[in-house]
Amino acid sequence: MTLLEGAVGVEDLVLLEPLEEESLLKTLQLRYEKKEIYTYIGNVLISVNPYQQLPIYGPEFIAKYRDYTFYELKSHIYALANMAYQSLRDRDRDQCILITGESGAGKTEASKLVMSYVAAVCGKGEQVNSVKEQLLQSNPVLEAFGNAKTIRNNNSSRFGKYMDIEFDFKGSPLGGVITNYLLEKSRVVKQLGGERNFHIFYQLLAGADAHLLKALKLERDTSGYAFLNQKVSRVDGMDDASNFKAVQSAMTVIGFSEEEIQQVLEVTALVLKLGNVELADEFQANGTSASGIRDGRGIQEIGEMIGLNSEELEKALCSRTMKTAKENVVTALNVIQAQYARDALAKNIYSRLFNWIVNRINESIKVGTGEKKKVMGVLDIYGFEILEDNSFEQFVINYCNEKLQQVFIEMTLKEEQEEYEREGIPWTKVDYFDNGIICNLIEHNQQGILAMLDEECLRPGVVSDTTFLAKLNQLFSKHNHYESKVTQNAQHQYDHTMGLSSFRICHYAGKVTYNVNSFIDKNNDLLFWDLSQAMWKARHPLLRSLFPEGDPKQASLKRPPTAGAQFKSSVAILMKNLYSKNPNYIRCIKPNEHQQQGQFSSELVAVQTRYLGLLENVRVRRAGYAYRQRYGPFLERYRLLSRSTWPRWNGGDREGVKKVVEELSLSSEELVFGKTKIFIRSPSTLFHLEEQRRLRLQQLATLIQKTYRGWRCRTHYQLMRKSQIVISAWFRGNAQKKRYGKIKASALLIQAFVRGWKARKDYRKYFRSGAALTLANFIYKSITQKFLLGLKNSLPSTNILDKTWPAAPYRCFHTANQELRQLFYHWKCKKFRDQLSPKQVEILREKLCASELFKGKKASYPQSVPIPFRADYIGLQGNPKLQKLKGGAEGPVLMAETVKKVNRGNGKTSSRILLLTKGHVILIDTKKSQAKTVIGLDSVSGMSVTSFKDGLFSLHMSEISSVGSKGDFLLVSEHVIELLTKMYRAVLDATQKQLPVTVTENFSVRFKESSVAVKVIQGPEGGRNGKLSFKKKGSRGLEVTV
Ligand SMILES: Nc1ncnc2c1ncn2[C@@H]1O[C@H](COP(=O)(O)OP(=O)(O)OP(=O)(O)O)[C@@H](O)[C@H]1O
Ligand SMILES: [Mg+2]
Repeated sequence: MTLLEGAVGVEDLVLLEPLEEESLLKTLQLRYEKKEIYTYIGNVLISVNPYQQLPIYGPEFIAKYRDYTFYELKSHIYALANMAYQSLRDRDRDQCILITGESGAGKTEASKLVMSYVAAVCGKGEQVNSVKEQLLQSNPVLEAFGNAKTIRNNNSSRFGKYMDIEFDFKGSPLGGVITNYLLEKSRVVKQLGGERNFHIFYQLLAGADAHLLKALKLERDTSGYAFLNQKVSRVDGMDDASNFKAVQSAMTVIGFSEEEIQQVLEVTALVLKLGNVELADEFQANGTSASGIRDGRGIQEIGEMIGLNSEELEKALCSRTMKTAKENVVTALNVIQAQYARDALAKNIYSRLFNWIVNRINESIKVGTGEKKKVMGVLDIYGFEILEDNSFEQFVINYCNEKLQQVFIEMTLKEEQEEYEREGIPWTKVDYFDNGIICNLIEHNQQGILAMLDEECLRPGVVSDTTFLAKLNQLFSKHNHYESKVTQNAQHQYDHTMGLSSFRICHYAGKVTYNVNSFIDKNNDLLFWDLSQAMWKARHPLLRSLFPEGDPKQASLKRPPTAGAQFKSSVAILMKNLYSKNPNYIRCIKPNEHQQQGQFSSELVAVQTRYLGLLENVRVRRAGYAYRQRYGPFLERYRLLSRSTWPRWNGGDREGVKKVVEELSLSSEELVFGKTKIFIRSPSTLFHLEEQRRLRLQQLATLIQKTYRGWRCRTHYQLMRKSQIVISAWFRGNAQKKRYGKIKASALLIQAFVRGWKARKDYRKYFRSGAALTLANFIYKSITQKFLLGLKNSLPSTNILDKTWPAAPYRCFHTANQELRQLFYHWKCKKFRDQLSPKQVEILREKLCASELFKGKKASYPQSVPIPFRADYIGLQGNPKLQKLKGGAEGPVLMAETVKKVNRGNGKTSSRILLLTKGHVILIDTKKSQAKTVIGLDSVSGMSVTSFKDGLFSLHMSEISSVGSKGDFLLVSEHVIELLTKMYRAVLDATQKQLPVTVTENFSVRFKESSVAVKVIQGPEGGRNGKLSFKKKGSRGLEVTV
């Protein structure tokens, strides 16, 4: 632990050994010399003023301390601020930081350090930053108007300040409230040697530019102002001019308007100028002394500045109106009284201005009502004062310090020890001085010094400070803490330090002798009504608002509460406030009287440690427990550390706490179980618990995060899924709808087309456009009908040779007419064919064959057509001889004719009868009636015939045939067409061969292994007469003329 490691002396005086004043001082000194100005007593911080800037502040250190708990790092004011802030933020406990110590011990600096630490670690954001800035900037303004150089401290706070900083539940500052206590206003008109008036006067004169100075009717030189101490106008290390700029800008940051700043400066200037108003003796007509203004110019300027008639001001300064129920009595004031009135006015203006500034700041930083707030109070109040000449101010200041000491005693020493007893914890009582008796001496409602003072102030009759002192002497003659010349005398004590007009109180911090002079006055704190009224009459808005009682309508005869009573009640409020919060102590110690760094005056420090009760503090602390807590809240805070108590615990709080502690196996010495609270001896145990809790919280936070994230993702996923389903359903639905729409539209279109088409079809006939066609068709049909009927009636004869046919009446029937003609012709032919007998058919076939063979080729053919083929031209039926020749097996003779056989050798002809049977050609000698030659049809290889009208033809034999050896036959027939046709048909029937029939004029005829070239020439008759002449042409040629 850092408390022990490498510490200079001890970091915590609880560890001091031996526990004596001497060693305590030595430790503090040692640490001070090593520049360790902070030391703990438990959670109380002791701060020794270093009077030098140490490199232990700033963002770096703030960052370091915010991450550690109290005892983990070196003792530091940041650690205390951090502890207070964390306790406020995390444990929801309002805090107060009580900074006490003598003047110059470093309270104000400490309070600023605490504020700057809290400002640095608390929340961020535009709004928050501006609040922070306003809170921080209130310091320079209040210091300018409320601080002054004193002998003890160059920047001594001449007012008490308690500032509540208010935070929201997250620990971000929302704003605050400043309460000020008893400004030392006597300083406005008078300062001790070596001291200065409030800083603002010097700052204004040094820092204002010429223009501003002129506007305020001021001169830069401080020596020209009676209220400013002539000897000390400057403070070493303090730059008034630049501080003035800082104050101006701070006021702007806080929210003062330009006009407000100007008015504040005007009122400040007014105070300065009031000091220069010189009063002179005057006498009234009745001889009584009066006063008047010596130099009219000053008062003139003031009048102009505040918008008030200078005569009225003069009157208010130099006379006094006594108000009674019945009448107002005006009395002139003598110079002394007038000077008193002037000073009283200056003091009042200044102190009211100061209050106004504090209220104005509060207005800017105040937090709206209704917001739940956590509060951290910082108390920087004047320290205990023992001056050479102590007056009313010191009396109330020291009273306040007594009260604060009481808070300390109540909350640390007394309360702690009483608590141990209450809780039944074994405890050896530690003695300490309880200053309740002194507080009582001062503040007792009936018999306290303040009550006596008030009584004197209100009492009719002659009242003076002396009567007041006499009263005290009488009342407190036996009081242990009260002394005066009278009480001393009564006890036969001789004390030259005690004056006749003094009394002494044995404060907890030492004996202080107060001079009662002006106690009554100061307590009355009365301002003549004339002055209030004059101020109220001024046209200056700010000044006017400072004196509301000057308004005749507001004026009352009721006395305002006395300064003492006011102070007492505000201290009571403060105490109540402090008791309601968790206290954190910073005890400031002043190491020397000379504001010197490095000097450590043991005597001076010893006095302070004594009255601060540090040693007792250490003793109680050492014997006691660092931490205690009621079982309920303790269990609530730490039950998450044990499985038995987390998440639910049904038993009692105490048992629950025991369970938690058992499970953490904490040392039994560290813990004591009281009746209602658990006590933890050392802070380290508490920190251990806190650390465990922190870790556990992290775990739980992770668990919650995990669960939450899971839940969020799940719900998100489910939502997405549902959405996806909805979207796809809609999408699909839409797509189908579209598709359906398209199909429907198409179907409708098709339907429409079909219906249209049908309708058109049905109605086409009614269409005008179709009329022509219909007519045309009709006409066409009718002319067709007419044509056909006409044709029927004019059909030509059924004779097949009749080829006539009526012409078509119109060209359009031409093809049909031709077709019909063909049909009719074919039909006629068929009819003709059907009525033919088989014989006729055969004859016609022969004729057809002849036509195929000779038509267009032979000139005699056309003549042969009409002549029927008779076949038998020799009367074969009646000639049995010839009948025999033909051979019975061959069936009927196909042709029987007499032909001429041409001798191939000589061209001579001889008659022969030619019989054609189914298989043979038989040539019979006409004379001998016997077969001369029989030719098998299968040996005939061709026939040649001329194209003329003659009957000459050659019968070509195939070379291998028996008949062929004799060569080809050259014959002449009168029925050559019939003969050749029949022969052709006979060969075809017999051999299935088509016999080549050559129509030619030149052919050769084989004859005795050679051939004879026959050449046919047309004679003049063209062979018509059937006469042929053969002429031999050489051995191998035969010329035939037909
Ligand atoms: N922590 C510190 N570091 C450096 N200097 C310091 C520190 N604390 C105090 N001082 C010096 O001591 C001077 C006096 O301190 P401060 O004004 O805080 O005293 P105080 O206790 O407020 O006195 P008073 O009761 O008169 O207002 C400061 O002006 C400063 O120079
Ligand atoms: Mg101060």
